[in-house]
Amino acid sequence: MRIIFFAGKGGVGKTSLAAATGIKAAEAGHKTLIMSLDVAHSLVDIFDLGRDLLDQNRGKPLKVRENLWLQELDIQEEIRKNWGAIHKYLSLLLNTTGLDEILAEELAILPGMEEVSLLLYINQYVQRKTFEVIILDCAPTGESLRFISIPTTLEWYMAKIFKMEKTLAKLARPLAKRIYDVPLPGDDYFDALEKLFERLQGVDRILTDPRITTVRLVTNPEKIVLKETQRAYMYFSLYRMLIDAIIMNRIFPEGVQDDYFRDWKKNQEMYRQKAEEYFSPLPILNVPLFRGEVLGYRQLKQLGDQLYAGRDPLDRFYTDQPYRLSKINGNYQLRLKVPFITKQDIDLTTLPEELIIRIGSYQRHLPLPRSVAAAGTVKAKLEGETLTIQFEGA
Ligand SMILES: Nc1ncnc2c1ncn2[C@@H]1O[C@H](COP(=O)(O)OP(=O)(O)OP(=O)(O)O)[C@@H](O)[C@H]1O
Ligand SMILES: [Mg+2]
Repeated sequence: MRIIFFAGKGGVGKTSLAAATGIKAAEAGHKTLIMSLDVAHSLVDIFDLGRDLLDQNRGKPLKVRENLWLQELDIQEEIRKNWGAIHKYLSLLLNTTGLDEILAEELAILPGMEEVSLLLYINQYVQRKTFEVIILDCAPTGESLRFISIPTTLEWYMAKIFKMEKTLAKLARPLAKRIYDVPLPGDDYFDALEKLFERLQGVDRILTDPRITTVRLVTNPEKIVLKETQRAYMYFSLYRMLIDAIIMNRIFPEGVQDDYFRDWKKNQEMYRQKAEEYFSPLPILNVPLFRGEVLGYRQLKQLGDQLYAGRDPLDRFYTDQPYRLSKINGNYQLRLKVPFITKQDIDLTTLPEELIIRIGSYQRHLPLPRSVAAAGTVKAKLEGETLTIQFEGA
């Protein structure tokens, strides 16, 4: 079983590279599913298939080739299957608070329902061994971070809030009916939530098991895109997901000599070097800018050939967790690998969302959550290849 996430900023090439990887895996004989985690689905468009094909399929996996399936969720179908009592209560709530019935039904699709539905599928496919490879085409960074935080958030909600809410609703129901117009959720609402939660059990273990799941961060050699990639790198690591490669997409090929692109090429060169500094020791896979949009099976396959250049796309290209943030006795501690460095003076500078580490010629900018960066004192210790940074008073 192998799951690979393709994540990154909007428009960097996630869907194309996810599709290209899926094609390579399927052609190597693995039963492969490419799933879109983006509400603005575009998988079918990139494969240049008719949209009605997938619409008829109502969000189920659609076989497009030998060993290759595509899946884009149909939220209405999911609500019917998974969210019945929950959706009914939410629409009733919105409806009684004055919204038109149709609008209430539409609005009762909570942010997160689609993502939870996807997690249910992933869990089910892994348990039932439906596919050997699942490729996940993520939404732009912010939303995909919310996606991976769902299992932890739900776990917390079920452990801390759910039982209390259920008991309170039971106690308050007879009373509140007389005082307020707003209906309280019934037992079927709570039962449905509980059942959903049960079906999600284990999915966080799948996503954080580095033998199964790895993340590939797609980026471009540009300042703002790189900055967001660094942030994504930190957050995925915070959720203990293993990032096994950075994919540098849209590099101007050597053949482009036109004077008009001279500055573009120079800047790309500079940002590629910066990327090496930022992300080492992670491998960076380079992909050139194609002559035009990458559309249809043949071109996607060519993109896959360029991307993996003879490597097996299912390999884990990096297996270490280069970066680990934990909370020990109330203080944050960051441990990171800094290979090939001999002990010298360590210089640390904290900015509102960033830590700059300098050890001799080694320099590293690490984005930090604000709560961590707010620490009063920051100390560092180098032991072998491991640098430990202690934040106190955050
Ligand atoms: N290496 C490349 N060369 C040429 N065109 C590319 C390359 N990579 C991606 N594209 C094109 O760039 C556009 C955006 O790519 P894609 O849809 O894969 O990005 P995305 O990251 O999934 O975007 P979104 O965040 O909107 O989902 C597409 O038209 C695609 O064909
Ligand atoms: Mg996309």
